Amino acid sequence: VFLIALFGLYVCYLSFNQIRMESKHGEENGAQEPNEHVCANPYVPSEELPYVHFPQPKGYSRAECSCNPVRFFVIVSMQRSGSGWFETLLNSHPNISSNGEIFNRVDRRQNISSIVQTLDKLYDLDWLTSAAKNECTAAFGFKWMLNQGFMDHHDDILSYLNKKGVSVIFLFRRNTLRRLISVLANNYDRDAKQLNGTHKSHVHSEEEVSSMHREFQNIVTPVLIISGRSRMKC
Ligand SMILES: *[C@@H]1O[C@H](CO)[C@@H](O)[C@H](O)[C@H]1NC(C)=O
Ligand SMILES: *[C@@H]1O[C@H](CO)[C@@H](O)[C@H](O)[C@H]1NC(C)=O
Ligand SMILES: *[C@@H]1O[C@H](CO)[C@@H](O)[C@H](O)[C@H]1NC(C)=O
Repeated sequence: VFLIALFGLYVCYLSFNQIRMESKHGEENGAQEPNEHVCANPYVPSEELPYVHFPQPKGYSRAECSCNPVRFFVIVSMQRSGSGWFETLLNSHPNISSNGEIFNRVDRRQNISSIVQTLDKLYDLDWLTSAAKNECTAAFGFKWMLNQGFMDHHDDILSYLNKKGVSVIFLFRRNTLRRLISVLANNYDRDAKQLNGTHKSHVHSEEEVSSMHREFQNIVTPVLIISGRSRMKC
């Protein structure tokens, strides 16, 4: 009886092993087949193919969405142009991730190689911020201010973006006067001391709006005239 039991156990062990091997085999096949079938034939019009990507992040698996096409974008803008509002709007979509001003840190834009390294990591979808959504993200990008290294390396950046198939969204104030005021507010913020840790030209409450309004009447009018003059001279 003991021998029979032992034999039974052995058979069980063998078949268990076989099942395990089979399931492993199946997983391998399963992982390869959808990749080839779905990604080779995505629901994307052929003219859009250069602009979609199937990134493979190192940090996690895109799981069942690994064959969902991802579009890359960058919002190029200036401070005080409504880009924060625009980005919040984009991020309210469940499948769009815009990751803020990633080049506000100097070490990321020190030279073109650190810029490319940062961009590579971002567009590999390995950049995890609070805006990161899930493995099914369909559009991934960030916000880049012109004064954050963009103008210093514009040729190299342009060829990188072209090669990578990144869509560039230019966001500027259409109204020249408002754009000028934005530029002035930036200049003012750069030089002016921050008030309790916040920029003066950022408003956070109704009282701040009215106090900024008062303050701006004093700043903007003279500076506008000066800028106007220097522009005319040019
Ligand atoms: C987000 O992506 C998932 C997975 O591709 C899709 O099922 C869903 O419909 C998308 N949501 C929206 C609002 O497009
Ligand atoms: C580029 O900047 C990075 C980070 O600041 C630095 O470590 C690296 O040495 C720099 N490379 C060159 C070629 O200057
Ligand atoms: C700065 O913060 C302190 C403490 O919160 C407050 O008492 C003070 O009024 C603030 N100053 C301005 C100029 O808002």
